[in-house]
Amino acid sequence: MVKYLGSKRLLVPAILRAVGDVSAPGGTVLDLFSGTSRVGHALKRAGYRVIASDHNGYAATLARCYVQADREDVLDDAERLVAELNRTASRVVVGVGAGGEEVVEGGGWFARAYAGEARFFRAGNAGRIEAVREAIAAKGLEAELEAVLLTSLLEAADRVDSTTGVQMAYLKSWSWRSGRRLELRVPGVLPRAAGGKGEAHLLDAAEAAQRFEADVAYIDPPYNQHSYLGNYHVWETLVRWDAPGMYGVARKREDVQERKSAFNSRRGFEGALRRLLGAVRAPAVVLSFSDEGFLSRERLEGLLGEVFGVAQGLATVSCATHDHARYVGAKIGIHNPKGERVGTVGRLRNREFIYTIRRYGVPGAGDSGVRGDGVAVGAGCGSE
Ligand SMILES: C[S@@+](CC[C@H](N)C(=O)[O-])C[C@H]1O[C@@H](n2cnc3c(N)ncnc32)[C@H](O)[C@@H]1O
Repeated sequence: MVKYLGSKRLLVPAILRAVGDVSAPGGTVLDLFSGTSRVGHALKRAGYRVIASDHNGYAATLARCYVQADREDVLDDAERLVAELNRTASRVVVGVGAGGEEVVEGGGWFARAYAGEARFFRAGNAGRIEAVREAIAAKGLEAELEAVLLTSLLEAADRVDSTTGVQMAYLKSWSWRSGRRLELRVPGVLPRAAGGKGEAHLLDAAEAAQRFEADVAYIDPPYNQHSYLGNYHVWETLVRWDAPGMYGVARKREDVQERKSAFNSRRGFEGALRRLLGAVRAPAVVLSFSDEGFLSRERLEGLLGEVFGVAQGLATVSCATHDHARYVGAKIGIHNPKGERVGTVGRLRNREFIYTIRRYGVPGAGDSGVRGDGVAVGAGCGSE
């Protein structure tokens, strides 16, 4: 899967345990900030029906591939088409320019933007990505199969990019992986889960929380001011294929300036989280939280207590702590938009918390009539 800030790669086993504590496999889990769909994929594999949602198009595409599409429906076509698209990529003619750099024949707007004006890919790979994306568009496939191929292309492009893992900037000197040739692979699409067919949605979390009921809501919001759309604008463009207006050295999509998330703002975060938690229609909530976020742990725990009525015995909250290394960009240092190193990052480790909230008396959620004992959070927050 793609390099992604805040991806729960290392925490998937702990999240599965937390979900398993409140719902047996076969239940429905609503993932409101699905990102790479790593979590949804693991839940689907464990037998849950997953409803995944994210407000960015590339994330909704990854979810359509990893959560919604079922192996038995798409695998044969996907294998045939991935092989065909690799042949398409291999036909792109790549030459050498006067300065010894790669040049590609017939490159269009994508190659000009991301291998010329900005340098996210070498020219040959940008030309191959463009040729493959055009071929996918020309096929007019049904949505799930198209999402599988787009995921395959996005992951192939991620393996040959020249960044530290975010697209706010590209590296001044080419990354080692950018010299590899683009190669598509068939994504790990899973068979349908015992719990039923999954769904992928392109929605704001607040809208998705109102729309869908589930046994468990998994909540993993952004935790700082950096917009995911700004960090992964090339993926959004690759999926939408809309030749957007672009700006700045990193050639970001113009709509990065308009499509904002309340969760990326220090002032907006707490209110947005409070409204979201209040809107969730599930008897259990699992929440990921980082100590690098806008809210202190005390403040978050106070908020959970208020929203879910812990003191009134309407919910219990428990928590597990995980301490781990920060993402690789933190080790590489801080770079300006030209890819020049302009600073180092102080902390190389962070702490992630997984809160599990059991609610009692949620209408329509199989209320047992049992009341919680108002277990205080914090005291019981153990390390794993
Ligand atoms: C911390 S990441 C989630 C990572 C994901 N759990 C994974 O393992 O890959 C947060 C996600 O929230 C999405 N997001 C940000 N604001 C949102 C909003 N208001 N509604 C829905 N999704 C949002 C971002 O696009 C991003 O994918």
